[in-house]
Amino acid sequence: MAYDNILVETNGRVGVITLNRPKALNALNAALIGELGHALDAFEADAGIGAIVLTGSERAFAAGADIKEMQPLLFPATYTEDFITSWERLSRCRKPVIAAVAGYALGGGCEIAMMCDIILAADNARFGQPEIQLGIMPGAGGSQRLTRAIGKAKAMEMCLTGRTLTAEEADRYGLVSRVVPLAELRDEAMKVAGTIADLSLASVMMTKESVNRAFETTLAEGIRFERRLFQALFATADQKEGMSAFTEKRGPSFTNA
Ligand code: CAA
Repeated sequence: MAYDNILVETNGRVGVITLNRPKALNALNAALIGELGHALDAFEADAGIGAIVLTGSERAFAAGADIKEMQPLLFPATYTEDFITSWERLSRCRKPVIAAVAGYALGGGCEIAMMCDIILAADNARFGQPEIQLGIMPGAGGSQRLTRAIGKAKAMEMCLTGRTLTAEEADRYGLVSRVVPLAELRDEAMKVAGTIADLSLASVMMTKESVNRAFETTLAEGIRFERRLFQALFATADQKEGMSAFTEKRGPSFTNA
C-alpha cells in the first residue's frame, strides 16, 4: 500500500514507522491513523519483524489530533462512528513498539506515545495534554495512561491546565524511559529496537503482555499470569538455546521455535 501520511521502512528485524505530515506538525487525522493501523498490521504479520519504532520529525512527534478535521464534528457522529476508538490499534500491537519522541508530543501525540511500550525522548521533547484549552478533554486514553504513568497530582495539573512537560521533567516523573540528545534519538531507538528484535519473539511478546497485565489486574492475578507464561517458555527451543549458550559461554542464536 502507498502511504501519504507516514513513511514505512525496515532495518533488519526492526520495522520503522515515521509520522509524516510536516506542514501540520504530524497532526493525527483519520487518514494518518488508518495508514498507521495498516502498517502495524503488516509488521505484526511479518515474521521477519521483531520490534517496531514509531517516530516523527525533529520538530514534532505529533501535535495532537487534527483540530481542523475535528472542528465541525457533532456528537451523534462521534458516538455512532466511535471516534478515536480506531486509534487503539496501536495499544493492541503484540510486538514491542518503541516511541522515539522529538519535539511536540501533545494531546493525541502524547497519547499515542503512551500506547507504545518504551518512550525514548530527545532533549527537545515536550509532552502535554492541552485539550482542555480547546474546550474538550483527552480522548485517546490520556487521562488514564498519564495518570497511571506519573500519578494523579501531576496528571491532573497537566490535564486541567494544559501545562506541558520538558523532556527532563518527563524523565523525572517516569513518563519516558530516558532522554538522549536529539541528534542521537533515532540511532538510540534503533539500537533498543534491534536488541529486542534479536531476542526470542515469544519471550518478548509474553513479557510485554505480562507487564501490561500489571495495569489491569490485581497483584495476585498478575503474578499467577506471569508464572504461567514463564512456565510456558520452557516449551520453547529458544529457552534451551538461551540457557545452553550461557553455559557454553557463547552468544545465543534464537530461532523463534
Ligand atoms: N491539528 C491541526 N493542525 C495543527 C495542529 C493540530 N493538532 N497542530 C499544529 N497544526 C498546524 C497549524 O495549524 C499550522 O498550520 P498552518 O501553517 O496551516 O496554520 C502548522 O501546524 C504549524 O503550527 P503552528 O504555526 O501553530 O506552529 P507553532 O510552532 O507556532 O506552535 C504548537 C506549535 C504549540 C504545537 C501549536 O501548533 C499547537 O498548539 N498545536 C495544537 C496542539 C493541541 O492542542 N493538541 C491537542 C489536539 S486535541 C487532541 O489531541 C484530542 C485527543 O485527545 C485525541
